[in-house]
Amino acid sequence: MGGPGAGKGTQANFIKEHFGIPQISTGDMLRAAVKEGTELGLMAKKIMDEGGLVPDDVIIGLVKARIAQPDCSKGFLFDGFPRTIPQADAMKAAKVPLQFVIEIDVSDEEIVRRLSGRRVHPASGRIYHLIFSPPRVDEKDDVTGEPLIQRDDDKEETIRKRLEIYHAQTEPLVEYYARWSASGEKDAPKYVKITGAGSVETIRDAI
Ligand code: AP5
Ligand code: ZN
Repeated sequence: MGGPGAGKGTQANFIKEHFGIPQISTGDMLRAAVKEGTELGLMAKKIMDEGGLVPDDVIIGLVKARIAQPDCSKGFLFDGFPRTIPQADAMKAAKVPLQFVIEIDVSDEEIVRRLSGRRVHPASGRIYHLIFSPPRVDEKDDVTGEPLIQRDDDKEETIRKRLEIYHAQTEPLVEYYARWSASGEKDAPKYVKITGAGSVETIRDAI
């Protein structure tokens, strides 16, 4: 968990490699649908460009289908999901096992700084920052040499809107998981808060 640009995708890349498990990023799945021009993609594009949230039933259906795939049998990492109380409740109701909930806590000012310099290599999911994690060659992916892109929702106005939605709809999940974690219930996940200020490596080591 964490606000837009908190570093979820950056840190997810380390975790998925360390454990050899798939990263399930609902944002990446939606962006893939947009690129393919599917019905879901057409619907999602407008919402994402405005910084809003795609309807819960759509997202829950997408995630349930994804975790039923064979590559998820040994575990998986959610990135950017659940993002609302109904999404979290749906996972609880379906008894989807959760071991850890990791929150990366970053200030709003830092978020704006991070997102305005972000560049991504869409095919691999590799994430760069023009100042904090620059590619070796300007605007080119380190591994393939292919061009990097800026996400459509990384405009200052959309970033502000995404932050607003995060505070209103997703932040309540911090309390939700912290309480559940403290309840001592058998299946409760362990909730961990990581301070997101610091270098990518410092935060990776903390996690
Ligand atoms: P999603 O793709 O999940 O976007 P997000 O939550 O806004 O988060 P980001 O991907 O922007 O940031 P991140 O935390 O992954 O940061 P990153 O590692 O890239 O969702 C997009 C949209 O899809 C949503 O707005 C919504 O419309 C829809 N959606 C998705 N899931 C949904 C759901 N469950 N329900 C409903 N709608 C949903 O890092 C950011 C930048 O910072 C990079 O440039 C990176 O290099 C840099 N950086 C990272 N760490 C550091 C560091 N420690 N120091 C300096 N720079 C750093
Ligand atoms: Zn991300």
